[in-house]
Amino acid sequence: MGATIWDALAEATERLEDVSESPQLDAELLLREVTGLSRAALFARYDTLLPVEQHRRFARLVARRVAGESIAYIRGFKGFRNIELCVDRRVLVPRPETEQFVDYALDWLKRHPGPQVVVDVGTGSGAIALALAHELGETYTDVRIVATDRYFPALEVAALNRSRLGLTERVDLVQADLLTGLRGPFGLILANLPYLRDDQQHHSIALEPETALYAGPDGFNYYRRILPHVRRCLVPGGLFVGEIDPAQAAVAMAEGRAALDVPVWVERDLAGDERYFLAGSA
Ligand SMILES: C[S@@+](CC[C@H](N)C(=O)[O-])C[C@H]1O[C@@H](n2cnc3c(N)ncnc32)[C@H](O)[C@@H]1O
Repeated sequence: MGATIWDALAEATERLEDVSESPQLDAELLLREVTGLSRAALFARYDTLLPVEQHRRFARLVARRVAGESIAYIRGFKGFRNIELCVDRRVLVPRPETEQFVDYALDWLKRHPGPQVVVDVGTGSGAIALALAHELGETYTDVRIVATDRYFPALEVAALNRSRLGLTERVDLVQADLLTGLRGPFGLILANLPYLRDDQQHHSIALEPETALYAGPDGFNYYRRILPHVRRCLVPGGLFVGEIDPAQAAVAMAEGRAALDVPVWVERDLAGDERYFLAGSA
């Protein structure tokens, strides 16, 4: 006899306990992926037998999760603000704290109407640039959005997402090392660059691209390198936003102040951690 939905979930939850902080939720998401059922429908049918083929497929997905793959890579997409992005091992899975970039951008654009150019440096899946373009919608048609990445495989994923979201006319994709070769000037420079220290390796991120994660012995190499570009490319009255590790707040303030002749400050994320490094005019 096969397994009921309830049994399959219970067994998977137990298998996932050692690898996941949310084993029950992971099991549910993977079973929903296989069955196509909503959460409510899944629990309404908890004592129904799972068809053999679905049970096998579920077991394969659970095995991938046990081997360390994230739910986002297994499902192939991740929600970010109001959009869904295709993700695979070519790009970092966008994190919830990065959603705040879009609020910074929308606030700044409201206060600085008129033609503007916004750049998202190290766009990866396209998360920041595409969520911003999506939320601007038919408004602010004089705002141009440029998204860069140094790595072509990441840009391929961004291009796929841009096309799926119907934003090809709204966002330009450019292969570049930081802002090298781009003249700007930019009203907004948004950058979620790699910021982990080289010694911060962890099994939970082992399958994400190293080029999206590590940034030297103190994790600040990319921001250190982008500061002269910010100085060169930011319009007077413009705003730079970078995402950092809270432990980098002091170095960000010191090096930002040494490199730029505009105000530099750090702001906290929703968890209360010093997460965003800003420079320019709020
Ligand atoms: C932390 S990930 C962020 C991805 C995306 N912006 C997000 O928030 O989900 C950093 C991204 O920067 C890109 N990157 C690394 N070095 C770069 C460089 N020198 N110039 C431009 N992009 C770079 C990586 O390929 C990766 O996509």
